[in-house]
Amino acid sequence: MGRLSGKIALVTGAASGIGAATAQRFADEGAAVAGLDVQQPDATRWKRVEESAPAASFHTASVASEAQVEAAIAEIVARHGGFDTLINAAGVVGGGALESLEEDEWDRILSINLKGIFLMCKHSVAPILSRGGGSIVNIASVEGLVASEHSSPYAASKGGVVQLNRSLAVDLTHRGIRVNSVCPGLIETPMVEAVTGATEGPLAAMKEQFVNNHLMRRFGQPEEIANAILFLASDEASFVTGSTLVVDGGWTAGRRGDVDLIGP
Ligand SMILES: NC(=O)c1ccc[n+]([C@@H]2O[C@H](COP(=O)([O-])OP(=O)(O)OC[C@H]3O[C@@H](n4cnc5c(N)ncnc54)[C@H](O)[C@@H]3O)[C@@H](O)[C@H]2O)c1
Repeated sequence: MGRLSGKIALVTGAASGIGAATAQRFADEGAAVAGLDVQQPDATRWKRVEESAPAASFHTASVASEAQVEAAIAEIVARHGGFDTLINAAGVVGGGALESLEEDEWDRILSINLKGIFLMCKHSVAPILSRGGGSIVNIASVEGLVASEHSSPYAASKGGVVQLNRSLAVDLTHRGIRVNSVCPGLIETPMVEAVTGATEGPLAAMKEQFVNNHLMRRFGQPEEIANAILFLASDEASFVTGSTLVVDGGWTAGRRGDVDLIGP
């Protein structure tokens, strides 16, 4: 028996990175998974999800469009008859120097990362309540707690997710829906591969700086975030709501210098 046996989970951003790892982990734990993304998943990878969860389905939509969110959720309800868990892992990164940042870039990031979670949650309440209640897990970021250089729209969107998460917990917990968020550190996914894969030049210097942001002096893996999401979505977290689980290899705990002054 898996930890999610009998559950139905809707995972956004399921075609890549953290969402794809979560879809796989949830399927392996016995959940029926409905994936949602603007892009199609890698066929071989999604086949592995279906091998664990034969009822799995994949739906193409943008979380930034209310019409597309409504249509995809209607499809999922028709197919699965509601769901227990919503995982909001769809997202984009971006930004730049303040004075040259275009309005369109600001709107793109905020509409996917923040409005997208609002829209997904709004249209998921009824299908979750139809199953007798359940839970929502929103993926924010350490950037929602501390900011990096030139990341104003991304950091603002993720700070928004942290607070939206609390607000949704206030509105939904008494109706039987727990709402929690996860703040990952830098995770090796396609979103950040320009940095994590850099071997020379300014991006390689940035890579070293980002590695050193983590007390563990390494990047995280998508599966390490999927593990945290699994806990929050499972019945093991039955008394957890409105919380922000930081899974960041120690990034936000504090800094060690590059030189050990008094030893370990
Ligand atoms: N990778 C990191 O270091 C990191 C750190 C902290 C937080 N996060 C957050 O984790 C989440 C997942 O990121 P990831 O690293 O797996 O990135 P990723 O790029 O590998 O995956 C993101 C997925 O979201 C999908 N997506 C983008 N726009 C969409 C839209 N409008 N509608 C539906 N789907 C859309 C993409 O197609 C992609 O499949 C994001 O919210 C991201 O901000 C990532």
